[in-house]
Amino acid sequence: MRLVLLGAPGSGKGTQGHLLAERLGVRHVASGELLRAHVAAESELGVEITARLARGDFVPDDVVLAIVCEAVTAACESGRGYILDGFPRTRAQAERAYELARPKGIEAEAAVYLALADDIARRRLASRARAGRVDDADGGVIERRLELFHANTRPILEFYEARGILVTVDAAEPVPVVTETIIAALEATAGSDK
Ligand code: AP5
Repeated sequence: MRLVLLGAPGSGKGTQGHLLAERLGVRHVASGELLRAHVAAESELGVEITARLARGDFVPDDVVLAIVCEAVTAACESGRGYILDGFPRTRAQAERAYELARPKGIEAEAAVYLALADDIARRRLASRARAGRVDDADGGVIERRLELFHANTRPILEFYEARGILVTVDAAEPVPVVTETIIAALEATAGSDK
């Protein structure tokens, strides 16, 4: 299984990505986690992107594309699929990743959109702020992340719809319900391909 999880900040991409990866035996590749690991390690890249992450701004396409492609390729080379969480976030990322992956036969087979109202996302992020993520601690930064999602990421749903692989799931339901809904939708899609 090669899957892309799309959704606003707080929609549950990380939560579902982790659960689905265990359930399906594939690798969870989370762009935000990979970037935060660079920040924590104070690598050259980490130092460069710290301020962007704290402001809720995107990291440049080239940087994130290189990091994600490396992780996705490694997952596929190890004979496992992937669940990609947090990438792509821009049309350019979606198109360039597809151009790189398609010749290798490792392009996404399904895209799941976790649909969630902004107000619920705001509440979830504000309550997670206590767990220490700097980009959750400031209401202005949460607004910036939501704004970038609506301006840049939501429009790329069309890219996956045009490829006929988009599934939309109600992300306001409890965590286990969302997981089962995704699994059922993936099974239905796989069944309809036969
Ligand atoms: P990233 O880490 O991807 O952050 P995000 O998209 O803002 O997503 P979150 O992690 O906040 O939310 P989520 O949807 O994963 O939800 P979660 O499961 O955690 O990216 C961080 C930053 O890195 C970006 O702002 C950007 O700067 C940079 N970046 C990353 N990728 C990039 C890219 N491709 N291009 C450029 N820049 C990039 O859940 C949130 C909370 O809700 C948790 O507390 C959870 O327990 C709770 N929750 C989850 N599901 C439910 C549920 N069903 N019911 C109740 N509570 C729930």
